[in-house]
Amino acid sequence: MSEIAKQVRRRRTFAIISHPDAGKTTLTEKLLLFSGAINIAGSVKARKAARHATSDWMEIEKQRGISVASSVMQMEYRDCVINLLDTPGHQDFSEDTYRVLTAVDAALMVIDAGNGVEPQTRRLLQVCRARNTPILTFVNKMDREVQSPLDLMDEIERELGMTVVPFTWPVGMGKTFRGVFDRRTDQMRVFSAGEDRRGGEEEALIGLDNPESVKRFGSDFEQAKEELELVAGASTAFDKEEFLAGRQTPMLFGSAVNNFGVREVLDALVDLAPPPGDRPAMQRVVKPEEPKFTGVVFKIQANMDPAHRDRIAFVRLASGHFQRGMKIKVVRSGKDLRPNTVVSFLSQRRELLDEAFAGDIIGIPNHGVLQLGDTLTEGENLQFTGLPFFAPEIIRSVEVADPLRTKQLRAGLTQLGEEGAIQVFRPVAGSVLLLGAVGQLQFEVVAHRLEHEYGVKARIMGSPYQVARWVTCAPEDGGEIELKKFIDANSHRVALDAVDAPTLLVDHAATLRAVEANWPKIKFHAMREHA
Ligand code: G4P
Repeated sequence: MSEIAKQVRRRRTFAIISHPDAGKTTLTEKLLLFSGAINIAGSVKARKAARHATSDWMEIEKQRGISVASSVMQMEYRDCVINLLDTPGHQDFSEDTYRVLTAVDAALMVIDAGNGVEPQTRRLLQVCRARNTPILTFVNKMDREVQSPLDLMDEIERELGMTVVPFTWPVGMGKTFRGVFDRRTDQMRVFSAGEDRRGGEEEALIGLDNPESVKRFGSDFEQAKEELELVAGASTAFDKEEFLAGRQTPMLFGSAVNNFGVREVLDALVDLAPPPGDRPAMQRVVKPEEPKFTGVVFKIQANMDPAHRDRIAFVRLASGHFQRGMKIKVVRSGKDLRPNTVVSFLSQRRELLDEAFAGDIIGIPNHGVLQLGDTLTEGENLQFTGLPFFAPEIIRSVEVADPLRTKQLRAGLTQLGEEGAIQVFRPVAGSVLLLGAVGQLQFEVVAHRLEHEYGVKARIMGSPYQVARWVTCAPEDGGEIELKKFIDANSHRVALDAVDAPTLLVDHAATLRAVEANWPKIKFHAMREHA
């Protein structure tokens, strides 16, 4: 086997998804701790606190460097290299959050056992489901009074539309959380609170009929045993193929803050999550172990110094071996690039990177030569598909305070649009530009950056629209002619996006349904792939 193939097989690249407060930061930190990437707990948390302590924009600006570093984390565990990608939440929610999911091979879903599946998790899951991404489920906070595990299992199954396979099962909860029964090893791991353990040294009680378990944990154990029998009778056996196809999810219970159940998550990632696989490009399918480097830009983040318009392009390697200083081609523009200051994200320190393999994420600082969706190669003309744009969920109109600066506004918005900071729509009739986002904060960032980087004071105002859908028409349904008919008939509510793709904008979901019913030959899309 080639060196590249060996390295690829060691890679696990995954995103961690959850609703705010489910324990994502805590778990991330514990994963880093258990893998030895950090020595003391607290650093990830401190960053998070710094980020959320203030909503003042200048402050957040200062924190940008931090969010670059904490958005990708690399660690080694057993013989694997794990790349963990954060999916920002709260008010940070943006299209980047969605797009991160296109750069991973698996996802780890963290659920607060008290709250079950919450809205943000649901949104992210839809994207995972659309891509058949394998999902591991960690049910956190079992040391609290939470929902019954059977109810949780039902809920997750319903929400995910996937079969849930419990790997562990909780014994008790809250103040009487006793531990988890591991169905694969047929033993109970006994819970003790605190953050000192690194897993593996918990007390284990073998078997479901162990008299000591009954003696010590009484009705909690009896109940868990009953539930386990029920689960064994009703649920399907784990099937790795089903998991890899995104149809089954293994479920593990634990308490991240107490370091309980964390090692099992790492082990499951290494044992179950797939190494990087083939990636489709327009011209051909690219295999990860191919000797030549290829990659795709899935996220652009503005860097610290606004005066320099410095950006970091996050590139997911699709194949081959990247070495610092090598010449790479930006296929879209045909330009060559010889990045010397490529950053890696080893244990959250941004450090200079010497090499990377398929599955890894590298950061390339640049001044705008790299755009979202760009394919990078060693020379081959290749365009990866599948970098999606998501229909905005919030739509605003934008006006410039000083009409003499209209040109600057357009220029600024074009660049911010290329970065993926916001989507810009030009109505086919009318001149007021519309901005689309999936998170409220995106508008604030854009207004701030327009002012500070482009010298434009913009007024961002409400718009009558709440729903956007890209529209297309297949050749057999009338193609361009039918599409033009649709656009003409709806010119008061059709706009063109950054690549001139026509988009329908309406006030309500009900209106959309009515339009869909009236125009059966037109297709309405909530997602558009990079042109
Ligand atoms: P997030 O990144 O998903 O938003 O969540 P985060 O890890 O920040 O956790 C949210 C809160 O839940 C934190 O409490 C954290 O300590 C707590 N938490 C995480 N895992 C567990 C668990 O297993 N059991 C219990 N009981 N709590 C857990 P906080 O009050 O917001 O912060 P802190 O001041 O306690 O650190």
